[in-house]
Amino acid sequence: MSKQPVPWTVEEYASYLETHAESTTYLEATEAHNLKWNTNRSPDGVRKKMLRHGIKTPSDHFKADPNADVYQSAFESDGNRAVATVSDRMPRTLDELIEACNVDLTVWKIDTHKVNRWGNDDNPNFQVKAKLSKIIPDESLWPVLQPIDAPVFTKPKQNISSNKDGLFTTMICNDAHIGYIRDESTGKLIPTHDRKALDLFCSVAESLRPNTIIINGDFIDLPDWQSKFPVGPELARHMQPAIFEAHWWIRRMMAIGAKVVYIEGNHEERMPRALIANTQAAYQIRAAGDHDEHPVVSIPNYLKLDRLGVEWVGNYPNGVYWVNENLGAQHGDVVRANSGGSVSTAVIKSGESVVFGHVHRMEMAVHTDWNFGKPRQRMAASLGCLCRIDGVVPARKQRNNWQQGFGIIDHESGNGIFHLQPIHISNGRCIAAGRMWQGRDLTNDIARDCNYPLLKT
Ligand SMILES: [Fe+2]
Ligand SMILES: [Fe+2]
Repeated sequence: MSKQPVPWTVEEYASYLETHAESTTYLEATEAHNLKWNTNRSPDGVRKKMLRHGIKTPSDHFKADPNADVYQSAFESDGNRAVATVSDRMPRTLDELIEACNVDLTVWKIDTHKVNRWGNDDNPNFQVKAKLSKIIPDESLWPVLQPIDAPVFTKPKQNISSNKDGLFTTMICNDAHIGYIRDESTGKLIPTHDRKALDLFCSVAESLRPNTIIINGDFIDLPDWQSKFPVGPELARHMQPAIFEAHWWIRRMMAIGAKVVYIEGNHEERMPRALIANTQAAYQIRAAGDHDEHPVVSIPNYLKLDRLGVEWVGNYPNGVYWVNENLGAQHGDVVRANSGGSVSTAVIKSGESVVFGHVHRMEMAVHTDWNFGKPRQRMAASLGCLCRIDGVVPARKQRNNWQQGFGIIDHESGNGIFHLQPIHISNGRCIAAGRMWQGRDLTNDIARDCNYPLLKT
């Protein structure tokens, strides 16, 4: 293989046509004219080039020398980056590509390279393609910085008005436990959250357009941020897709035009707990200039809640968001084994009306006590979960007494009254606002939007 191919000139080629008969090989022709064998161009390629110069040659005038190397190479550069290719009917190596394209390895470095093959066994074609960049880039060749061409979330106008009866609407969901189990044979990520249940909550919210949406804790699972329970490798190292997907769902809620509040649950609290236990040096540390922002290693920072305009209520288990002055929302920390047991305990213990999650059950209890001869009611409600309830969520046992659901609260503001409607989810469906709703599995939309193909099932 020649290192420095010398193409024929138009005149040389025309001269050859005058003096040689058909069916000579290209090699014979070039030698006859004392020219170097042009390994950079096939006979057919030369014929086409000459055609562009007005010299017509029968298509079968030349035969390629069967023993000759007939390859095509190209080196295209924008100054600091380049793509080099060599194509042939026989396999080529990266070293041969470097030689064919005269790549100066003191100037260029190979970033990636790939070997392609196409055609059939009788007529195979091979290509080696490499992407290169300058070892010392020429700064004057870099493009001028452009604004980022990425979708920027535009917060819609918030729905702050009451209805004609002076009522506001708050929707609340609990315990989605966004996380995954990796299928070790395919690498696919099987969700521990229930996308149909999440879709039901969002679809009903999109229809009702509530004033406020409360994400009441354990929205993200974080199984490997704790050491209390053993975590197998199939559950570990999935925080990145969980962050992407949790952000996707919150963005969808934000697009409704509601105020979105995210209350810390015990699973979000795993992160500061792990830092305190293992890496106190990173606990509560803010980035330079970010005094008013969330700590770098924290769920509200990873989810960029400030940028989305989401209100974060931390301080689990004491963090509370007041729906109005008579109803507080908390993630909760009371768990009793029997159905109804958790709300029965909470309604006595709390001293005020509370709606919570954490126990993954649909329960409600109302208690009336007396003060100076006047009755006073308070309520405790647990509104189920949006995670899967078929045993895949990491827990002490698999066959749990869990139910899926969420809540719709119509209420006055201030010291007013409220009405809480629990919405049960059953096999991907629910009844709300007098309608039947069918949850959709949006896996492929989420994988595409999050640019994370392994989320596809
Ligand atoms: Fe939970
Ligand atoms: Fe919880």
